[in-house]
Amino acid sequence: MTALVQVQGLDITAGGRLVQRGLNFTVERGEVLVIVGASGSGKSTLLRHLVGLDVPAAGHVLFEGRDLQAGRPDEQAALRRRFGVMFQAGALWSSMSLGENLMLPMRLFTGLSAAERRRRAGFKLALVGLDGGFDLLPSQLSGGMRKRAALARALALDPELLYLDEPGSGLDPLNAARLDELVLNLRQHLGTTVVMVTHEIASVFAVANRALFLDEEEKTMTALGAPLDLLRHGPDAVRSFLQRGAPAMEPAP
Ligand SMILES: Nc1ncnc2c1ncn2[C@@H]1O[C@H](COP(=O)(O)OP(=O)(O)OP(=O)(O)O)[C@@H](O)[C@H]1O
Ligand SMILES: [Mg+2]
Repeated sequence: MTALVQVQGLDITAGGRLVQRGLNFTVERGEVLVIVGASGSGKSTLLRHLVGLDVPAAGHVLFEGRDLQAGRPDEQAALRRRFGVMFQAGALWSSMSLGENLMLPMRLFTGLSAAERRRRAGFKLALVGLDGGFDLLPSQLSGGMRKRAALARALALDPELLYLDEPGSGLDPLNAARLDELVLNLRQHLGTTVVMVTHEIASVFAVANRALFLDEEEKTMTALGAPLDLLRHGPDAVRSFLQRGAPAMEPAP
């Protein structure tokens, strides 16, 4: 079976400048793939390419074997609708309550009844710990709550593939751990595939099946593998990064 996502010979630019080149990797069905790299290495830019919003300078991003940049605009849009996306800024529609933020995509893209939309929006808000927040406006929330609400909205259409850009930043340790748990639950119980950018090393060990490292100076990926394997056998820079947050473990034989 082909991988869910195939990235082939991808060069990416931001503001006309090359930020990463020669990226080759896959996202396998049902895995949690974490993207790690220094600030400015191009993680968010890569995510924009993975969801098809930015056009590659070279190479391809395939979803179920189909190039995200090929086909008619309506076909591209239909494909993108199968992804849940939470960008780094986690923008919500500011004039709408949280409940309305979640129900709008359902109203636009599903045939669900109003009652069912309301029930599902409430359920998604509860998933991220915002049970009582249905009628609140985004301006009434703390930064961390806004982040969780944006995550709930990314889940609104029950996506099979979820892209998250630093969902844990700005959260207190308890809520950051809850978020890791939520990601694991989505994978285990719904089979959701997750691609997540993070700076939190603890999070890498908690949720990632594999971690992809982007290097800012070399402008390409320098490692891809299971976190514990990279901790033992990865390149020096990757090992020393991971050592700062590795779980206590026996020294390698
Ligand atoms: N719209 C843009 N115009 C010009 N340069 C941009 C634009 N977006 C990003 N860049 C530049 O591209 C590089 C990669 O940015 P990107 O946001 O992808 O990094 P990042 O790895 O997500 O960083 P962070 O960890 O801080 O979020 C940076 O040097 C950034 O300044
Ligand atoms: Mg970023």
